[in-house]
Amino acid sequence: MLMSNSRSRLQGLSGAALVLALSALAPVAGHAAEAGDADAAKGKVSMCIGCHGIPGYKTAYPLVYPVPRISGQTAKYIENALVAYRKGDRSHPSMRAIAASLSDQDIADLAAYYSGR
Ligand code: HEC
Repeated sequence: MLMSNSRSRLQGLSGAALVLALSALAPVAGHAAEAGDADAAKGKVSMCIGCHGIPGYKTAYPLVYPVPRISGQTAKYIENALVAYRKGDRSHPSMRAIAASLSDQDIADLAAYYSGR
């Protein structure tokens, strides 16, 4: 009696821990394909803002020389573009060099970040 009581209490506890762990994952799982994390991108955009403007400061546009505005594009568009530069399907030298240094996760994070601006 005592034993089965404490066991079910234990199960209740680990169940709660599981629910907590799952809900912590939920925001990530909510994104369909790649789990792009806009917050994680905040440490990465420093390599983009020099050319693509300071995120959030949209009055920085138009820029001195023609660089496409990437904020507000869909995440999928940005992701496809970066993957294409990385693969060499798009040939702009500076973007190829930048994209070559990005992981899939970096690309997903950056896409989430810029699509949200
Ligand atoms: C040295 C300047 C420079 C830096 C740094 C740079 N970009 Fe670019 N980016 C460009 C230029 C120039 C283009 C247009 C290239 C072309 O015509 O293909 C471009 C194009 C793009 C495009 C395609 C836009 C479109 O409309 O098709 C994306 C997406 C992009 N950049 C994202 C990024 C991200 C994310 C970073 C940071 C990781 C970054 N860029 C860093 C100069 C830069």
